[in-house]
Amino acid sequence: MRNNDCAVVVLAAGKGTRLKSSLAKVLHRAGGRSLVEHVVRAAMPLKPRAITVVVGHQAEDVAAVVEPLGAATVLQQPQNGTGHAVLVARRAIGRAKIAVVIPGDAPLVRTETLANLLRTHRNGNAAATILTAMLHDPTGYGRIVRRGDGRVTGIVEEKSTDEETRQINEVNSSLYCFTLEKLWPALAKLRPNNVHRELYLTDAIALLNQQGDAVLTEVATDPHEILGCNTRAELAEVDRLFRARKRAAVMEAGVTIYMPQSVLIDPEVEIGADTILDPGVQLLGRTRIGARCKIGTGSILTDTVLGDDVVVKPHCLISASRLANGTAVGPFAHLRDGATLLPGARVGNFVEVKKSVLANGVKAMHLSYLGDARIGAKTNIGAGTITCNYDGRQKHPTFIGKRVFIGSDSALVAPVRIGDGAYVAAGSTITENVPADALGIARGRQVVKPGWAAARRRESGREGHRDTEAQRRRKAKRKPARKTRPRVKKRTARRKSRR
Ligand code: UD1
Ligand code: MG
Repeated sequence: MRNNDCAVVVLAAGKGTRLKSSLAKVLHRAGGRSLVEHVVRAAMPLKPRAITVVVGHQAEDVAAVVEPLGAATVLQQPQNGTGHAVLVARRAIGRAKIAVVIPGDAPLVRTETLANLLRTHRNGNAAATILTAMLHDPTGYGRIVRRGDGRVTGIVEEKSTDEETRQINEVNSSLYCFTLEKLWPALAKLRPNNVHRELYLTDAIALLNQQGDAVLTEVATDPHEILGCNTRAELAEVDRLFRARKRAAVMEAGVTIYMPQSVLIDPEVEIGADTILDPGVQLLGRTRIGARCKIGTGSILTDTVLGDDVVVKPHCLISASRLANGTAVGPFAHLRDGATLLPGARVGNFVEVKKSVLANGVKAMHLSYLGDARIGAKTNIGAGTITCNYDGRQKHPTFIGKRVFIGSDSALVAPVRIGDGAYVAAGSTITENVPADALGIARGRQVVKPGWAAARRRESGREGHRDTEAQRRRKAKRKPARKTRPRVKKRTARRKSRR
C-alpha cells in the first residue's frame, strides 16, 4: 500500500471538556494506548506522504507520543474548531492531492477501513467522501442529511438538530477524504455560525454539495469502529471493545482464556499456542509469552518475556523480567527490574527477586529477598534468606556459586561471595566470603541449660506455675467443700446480725 498523493491529518488539539479532565482528551488511554497513538498507528500502513497531527492542548505531551511514530505536528492556537484545525495544517500538507482526515478521539478505526474510504473516494472522483455509520443511538454525533435521491446535502451537528434530523441514525464519523483543490476554497468560506462560534469542518460538506461537487459516503461495516471518546462512559466502552478485539485475536492464535472478560491484554503482547490464562490475569506492555505456559489468577506481567512451559502461579507481580523455559514462580512472587530465571529455576511464595540471575535449577521457594545477586546452577536458597544489598547509600552485589546450600533465615551482607558447593548454616549473618566447599556459620553458639525452665517456674510461684495432674485432681475434690462452707457461715452470720 502506498499513497504518495495523500496526506493524513489527525485532529488532536481539542481539550475534551466533556471528560472533565486535566489531561487532554487524546492522551487518555483505551486498550492500552493513548487515543492519538491508536489513530496514528492505524494510518501508518497507508504510507501517505505525511502524517500531520494538529496539536493544541498539552501540545508537547501529544507531540511526545506521535513524533516517535514518525508523525509531524502543527500547533493550532486557539482551537477554533475542526475546520480551523485542517486550515492550520495546510502548510504541512504541502502538495498532496488528497487529505485523509481522522479525529484524534476515534481510536477504534482500522487501517482497512481507511483504505476502503480512500478507494471509494478515488473511484468516485469525489470532492469529499465521508465515513458514516448507522448507530442505534446517534446522540451526540453529527447527522448525515440526504435528499430524496440519497445524495448527501450536509451534516447537522447534535446541537443544531431539529425534531426531524434528530431521528436520523446515520452519523458522521469525522473521518473523511477530501480532494484538496476542492477543500481549500470551501474552508475559506466557512463562518462560525454555531453556538460554539467555531469553524466546523462539517459545514464544508454542505458548501461542496451546493456548488455541485460530488460528496460520497462509505458506510462503516462495523459501526463500533467510529465511536468517539467524548465522555468517560464512551472511553470505557472503547476500552472494552479494544480488549475484546485483542482477546479474540489471541484466542484465534490458540490461547485458552478462562473468563475472558476479566483478562486484560495490551496490544503489543504476544502469546504462544496452548498457553492458558486464568481469570483476572493482566499482560501489559511488551510482554511476550511462549507456548504451553500457565498464568494463574490475579498475576500481572509487564514488559516480561516468558519461554515455553513456564508456570506462573496465582497473584504474582512480574515486570521487566525474563523467565526461561520450564521455570515456575509463585504464588505471590514479585520479580522485577531484570530478574532472570534460567531454565528450570523455581521461585516460590513471598519471594522478591530484583536484578538477579538465578541459573538453571536454582530453587528459592519461600520468603526471600534476592537483589543484585548472581546465583549458580542447582543452588538451594533456604526460606527467609535475604541478600542485604543496600548499605543506606549504595547497592552491592552478592555472588553465590553452583550447588550451594544457603540455610534458612540467612542474611548475606553484600558485597559477598559464596563459593561453589559451599554451605551456609541456617540463621547466619554472612559478612565475609565463604570459599568453595566450605561451611560458613555466623551465629551465636547455642547454650543448653538443663532444668532451667522448671527451676524458674518453681521460683516464680503461682505465675506461670502449672499443677501436675495429681495436684489438679486433689484440688478438684477439695474445691466445692471449701467454697460452700465459708459462704454459708458468712450468710448466717450476716442474717444473725440483721435480726
Ligand atoms: C465531531 C463532528 C461530528 C461527528 C463527531 C464524530 C464537527 C463539528 N463535528 O464532533 O459531526 O459526529 O466528531 O466523533 O466536526 N479538534 C481540534 N481542534 C479544534 C476542535 C477539535 O483539533 O479546534 C479535534 C479534537 O481534539 C478531536 C476532534 O478534533 O480529536 C473532534 O473534535 P470533537 O470536539 O471531539 O468533535 P465532536 O463534538 O465529537
Ligand atoms: Mg469527538
